[in-house]
Amino acid sequence: MKVVGVIGAGTMGIGIAQVAVQNNKQVIVIEANEEVLNKSKHNLFKTFEKLVEKEKFTSEQVAIFKEAMIFTTDYHSLKNADLVIEAIVENLEIKHSVFKKLEEIVSNECILASNTSSLSIAAISSALKNPSRFLGIHFFNPAPLMALVEVIPGVQTNSEITENTKNEILTWGKKAVLVKDTPGFIVNRVARPFYGEALRIYEEGIADFATIDWAMTHFGGFRMGPFTLMDYIGNDINYTVTETVFEAFYYDPRFKPSFTQKRHKEAGLLGRKTGKGYYDYSDGALLPKPTEDEKLGKYIFDRILAMLINEAFDALFMKVASREDVDTAMKFGVNYPKGLLAWADEIGLEKVLLQLSDLFEEYGEDRYRPNPLLKRMVYKN
Ligand SMILES: NC(=O)c1ccc[n+]([C@@H]2O[C@H](COP(=O)([O-])OP(=O)(O)OC[C@H]3O[C@@H](n4cnc5c(N)ncnc54)[C@H](O)[C@@H]3O)[C@@H](O)[C@H]2O)c1
Repeated sequence: MKVVGVIGAGTMGIGIAQVAVQNNKQVIVIEANEEVLNKSKHNLFKTFEKLVEKEKFTSEQVAIFKEAMIFTTDYHSLKNADLVIEAIVENLEIKHSVFKKLEEIVSNECILASNTSSLSIAAISSALKNPSRFLGIHFFNPAPLMALVEVIPGVQTNSEITENTKNEILTWGKKAVLVKDTPGFIVNRVARPFYGEALRIYEEGIADFATIDWAMTHFGGFRMGPFTLMDYIGNDINYTVTETVFEAFYYDPRFKPSFTQKRHKEAGLLGRKTGKGYYDYSDGALLPKPTEDEKLGKYIFDRILAMLINEAFDALFMKVASREDVDTAMKFGVNYPKGLLAWADEIGLEKVLLQLSDLFEEYGEDRYRPNPLLKRMVYKN
């Protein structure tokens, strides 16, 4: 593939364009809003200059990158594209109209892809005359820094196209994983308990935000605790992902959103971007200190990790992805210190199952039901 089109020059589109051009592609960026187009181009070129200062690239290389990019509002510039990745607003109708327009312009061989986080690949593909050349290519934010890319064939995608696309993404230096077209793909599905169980523990009054965060960083080696991470992502965005996954799973109680997060979102306590979320980020504000109680911390960490492992087993059980890809996704899509399935082996599957069974027995709630695959693997031994 030589020519890559990117539609939408927002957060994701411009990042994907940067990745593609740095991998020697000719890149055409299409954006509906001229002001955004110019601003994004300006910011990207500034990023290139910074990368030269940091000696990541030479000024000659950056000159080639700039030369290899076209920024335009005209879709017809995509005529010779080999691959087009759409990264516009998350709205099915608008995505449909974009792909209909694209099919009239690009060649029959051009691969079409969406960077959607929450819509199904099947739903987007229904607007296409030829859905066999369409699939999901899901980058993580910020695309130039996050190594993971989820490659998602839809029910009608040609398997050769899936394979070729995955191989192409691998040549871009990314960790490409193959995922079934299911809600949340791998990362946004398996990571839900990191937030949901932390919120539940808080709501039950077991510990405060700072203590739960401390438990996960201290015992688990996670870079950020759940509340710090939710404040970083934004409570509006994180809540919406949870709600979308919950609805898409036909209201499976495992994914039930939390009132605490909903109220924070409603109150405008979105996190860092509004200066206040679970924590106060205003100048001079002090972060609360955790209760560094080892026994409590270990209980919190074990409970959240067991729930995460259960979810990783479910993704494997339901053939969402291979064992290796589930672990790769969590390590490179959300920077978990270890793959969850490898972590489970390290702890011992019997121990994880016992933790979940205890929670299931204590609460009698479906969210704690141990995954059948985990049970099978324990009983088989
Ligand atoms: N932001 C994230 O963390 C993230 C991560 C992974 C995937 N995604 C997905 O990537 C996509 C883009 O998200 P984003 O955060 O970059 O959004 P964004 O709002 O930052 O950017 C979208 C851009 O698309 C432009 N646009 C809208 N309609 C257009 C059209 N018809 N033609 C050309 N340009 C058009 C908008 O003007 C805007 O600049 C969404 O599908 C989202 O679900 C987002």
